[in-house]
Amino acid sequence: MKHAAISWWQEGILYQIYPRSFQDSNGDGIGDISGIISRLPYLRYLGIDAIWLSPIFPSPMADFGYDISNYLGVDPIFGTLDDFDTLVAAAHASNLKVILDLVPNHTSDQHPWFIESRSSRDNPKRDWYLWREPRADGTAPNNWMSEFGGSAWSYDAGATQYYYHAFLREQSDLNWRNPAVRQAIYDVMRFWLQRGIDGFRVDVLWHLIKDSEFRDNPPNSNFLPGRPPHEALLPLYSTDRPEMLDVVTEMRRVVDEFSDRVLIGEIYLPVDRLVAYYGKDLSGAHLPFNFALLSVPWNARAIAMLIDDYERALPAAAWPNWVLGNHDRPRVASRVGHAQARVAAMLLLTLRGTPTLYYGDEIGMQQVAIAQDQVRDPFEKNVPGIGVGRDGCRTPMQWNGEAHGGFTTGEPWLPLADDYACENVASLSADTRSVLNLYRALIELRKATPELVTGSYAPVAATGDLLAYRREYEGNTLLIVLNLGADPISIGSDVMAFPGEILLSTNLDLTGETACGGLDLGGNEGLIIRLR
Ligand code: NOJ
Repeated sequence: MKHAAISWWQEGILYQIYPRSFQDSNGDGIGDISGIISRLPYLRYLGIDAIWLSPIFPSPMADFGYDISNYLGVDPIFGTLDDFDTLVAAAHASNLKVILDLVPNHTSDQHPWFIESRSSRDNPKRDWYLWREPRADGTAPNNWMSEFGGSAWSYDAGATQYYYHAFLREQSDLNWRNPAVRQAIYDVMRFWLQRGIDGFRVDVLWHLIKDSEFRDNPPNSNFLPGRPPHEALLPLYSTDRPEMLDVVTEMRRVVDEFSDRVLIGEIYLPVDRLVAYYGKDLSGAHLPFNFALLSVPWNARAIAMLIDDYERALPAAAWPNWVLGNHDRPRVASRVGHAQARVAAMLLLTLRGTPTLYYGDEIGMQQVAIAQDQVRDPFEKNVPGIGVGRDGCRTPMQWNGEAHGGFTTGEPWLPLADDYACENVASLSADTRSVLNLYRALIELRKATPELVTGSYAPVAATGDLLAYRREYEGNTLLIVLNLGADPISIGSDVMAFPGEILLSTNLDLTGETACGGLDLGGNEGLIIRLR
C-alpha cells in the first residue's frame, strides 16, 4: 500500500522493547543488543515497523537505565556502541526503524555533570541542576514529592543545599531553564541522530520545566487512600509549566535538522493538556503518547467516550496515537483478561493513529506476581504494598518452552511467568488461532487496508457492551464492532448496513464470510467488516 503524503511513523506500528528482558545473548540473565539483533526476524514476522528501546546507556541502574551516567555510550550490560551500530544497520536492512529513549529531565547522580555540580557552590555546572536553600527550619525548600515516594528534595551536606529529583534521589533533575543544559541535551540528540537512529521517545517530557518560584503544590482533594503518596498533591508547579512549549519546539527543531525522524513524548496528562504538546501549528512532538487506554475502565461506554474526547481534542491535522501497554503499567492481559485482550488488540490496531505495542503483549504475557525477595523495582521498594511494582510487566520474553523460555541460558534477572512453557512465541505461532496469530493478522490487514491507516474515524451509536465505529477512506467503509462483554450481541441494521464482508474476527474463524441480514457477535468477540 502506498500513501504518498504520510510518514513512516504515521502508517507504521511501533513496538517497545525493554532491552533487559527481550533476549539475552551472553548468559548473564539480562537481555542485550546482540539478543535484539538475533530476534529481528521475529519482529519482521510479527510485522511491526519500528522498535523503541528503553534506555541502553551507561547507568548505575538505580532505575534500570532511566538514571543515565553517560548519554553518549552503551552500558556494557547491553553491549557496545559497535553492537548498537550493528543493530541499527541490521534493523534498517530489515525495514525496521529504531527509536531511542531520551531521558532529558534527570541524570544519574553519578553523571559527571552532577558530580561537578555538587562539588561546590561556585562550580560552573552548579546551575545545571536544581539547588535550593533549606527553609529557615532546615527542612526541604518546598512540599514537592518524589514520584517514587518521599520528598523530592535531598540534602547535600557538603553543599548545605537541597537538590530536586522528581524520581529517585539518584536521579537529579537538570535545570532546563539553563540554556547550556538545553544545548548539551540537544547535542546528545544530534549524536544519536547522526548515528542513524530514527527518532526519540522522550522520558517524562511534561516534567522538564518547573515553576521559577518553586511554589508549594496544592493538596489534591480527590486523593484516594491506597494510591501512591505523591498523588496527595496536585503537581501544579512541578510539571507542565507554560514554558514547556518552547522546549518541545526546540527539541523538534533538532529532530528536524535530520530528515524523516520522529519525536514522541511520554506525557501523562488529561487529554486537553496532552494535545498541547503537539505544539503551536504542530511544531512540537509528532506523537505525544496517548496513554488513555492504560487506565480507562474496561467497558464499551467508557472507551467510546474516551475515543470521542481524544478525537475532539486533537488539533487539526495532528496525528493521533494509541498505547496499550508499557514498562510502567500492568500488562493488558492481566488488566482486562485474556479474552478481552484479543478485543483490545483489535481496538488498538483499528483505531485512527499510530499504535504502540509493548513486547510480549502480542503473546498475551501476563503481569507476573513477584515474590518479596525478588522485587527489583525501586518504586515498589520505596512504596511497598500498594501494588505500584513494575517488575511484573518487565519479565523476560517467552520465546519457547525451553529453560527460562529461551530468554537466557543463565539465571534471568526477573522470574518468568509460570505459564511460559505453553504460552510462548514458538507454541503460539504454531497455533493458528492464537493471540500471536491474531496480532499478525491484524497487522497484516492494517498494512493492506488504507481505511485502517489513513481513513477517517466515525463513532457508531451503540449501547451496552457494544463498541462500534467506522473507518472510511475514498468512499470505502469498514465497520468495527467489538463486544466488551461475555454475552453475545445481535447486530442489527441500526448499527450496520447489510450486507458486509467479514475481514477478520478476533476468533480468527470467520474471514471471508458475508453477513447478509443480521449478525451475531460472540461474547468477547470483535469483527472488522467491509460494508458494501
Ligand atoms: C518514566 C519511565 O517510563 C519510567 O520507567 C521511569 O522510572 C521514570 N520515567 C523516571 O525516569
